[in-house]
Amino acid sequence: MKKILITGGAGYIGSHAAIELLRADYAPVIVDNFVNSSLKSVERIKDITGKDVAFYEGDVADKGFLSDVFAKEGNIDGVIHFAAHKAVGESVKEPLKYYHNNLGGLISVLANMQQHGVVPIVFSSSATVYGDPEQNPIPETAQIKDASSPYGTTKIMGEQIIRDATRSGSKISAIALRYFNPIGAHESGKIGELPLGVPNNLVPYLTQVAMGEREKLTIFGNDYNTPDGTAVRDYLHVMDLANAHVAALKHLKEQQVPFYDVFNVGTGKGVSVRELVDTFERVIGMKLRYEIGPRREGDIAVCYADSSKIERVLGWKAQHSIEDALRDSWRWQKHLSSTA
Ligand code: UFG
Repeated sequence: MKKILITGGAGYIGSHAAIELLRADYAPVIVDNFVNSSLKSVERIKDITGKDVAFYEGDVADKGFLSDVFAKEGNIDGVIHFAAHKAVGESVKEPLKYYHNNLGGLISVLANMQQHGVVPIVFSSSATVYGDPEQNPIPETAQIKDASSPYGTTKIMGEQIIRDATRSGSKISAIALRYFNPIGAHESGKIGELPLGVPNNLVPYLTQVAMGEREKLTIFGNDYNTPDGTAVRDYLHVMDLANAHVAALKHLKEQQVPFYDVFNVGTGKGVSVRELVDTFERVIGMKLRYEIGPRREGDIAVCYADSSKIERVLGWKAQHSIEDALRDSWRWQKHLSSTA
């Protein structure tokens, strides 16, 4: 059994990754400070899998705290680093908070890995590193653009920091996974995304409208140069994304140290906001109130992955449809609203 430290393991993607790791017979060790997550997620991981999970509450940017976790656990075999702030708009208003947390956290993780002789790390990066891409689908070789937000910059800089660490002579092997748009929830409906306040992202907003918790959805712009005028994204099921981390860990184990590579994690299919809303209405059998509003600042028209590299090299391919993901998001929303 391999012990994997999951920073941010109580968060949306981290908690689903913990479930996939347990299913693949790894032993996750979760570290989380709950700024954007809940202890309940850790309980639910145990409940869903019937397995125990080691858990530490604290901030990964605190090197001493994290060093104690490494020392206490003794034989950590790898790290998946999720812990980060992720609200694009907030990052524009509070850039230092984002640089401190996202980059300070990463540096502390890498320093501890070096100190404790831990080699592999999988890093949560984002399609945001491509900015407004020149081409779609976007291959990993596409130009890395100046990010439109400090959040995006922390992902670009995070990748550079890790790449430099692997080139420094230290024994670090790393894969950065560039996520496209994760949606959905575990099929049990017992775990999912827990947005704080008004959701920024489309799917949690939609499910809250369907639940009657918000009046209507505003579609941000229908004048993009896309088939129906609304923006196009690559939505993937969070369990598929979780599984990509297991594939990345397995790949790292087979590589010579040091090693660094990046992979897109997406389905390779672009879906417009309107198509997503239509599909959601079909899945839940209900019409939703929505209006067309102005474009949201900083949004791009089209962004979907060229997923051929991850398919070829890691043998990973999205298994779930958008319908599956929306059904699971809806099941989770109903669970959340009934237990609130
Ligand atoms: N949208 C709406 N109405 C809403 C919310 C979203 O129309 O109420 C639209 C957006 O304009 C966009 C699409 O739905 O066209 C998807 O929006 P999300 O906020 O769900 O996702 P983004 O693609 O904007 O953002 C995601 C991640 C970010 C990441 C970014 C770029 O959430 O973390 O991709 O990679 F930075």
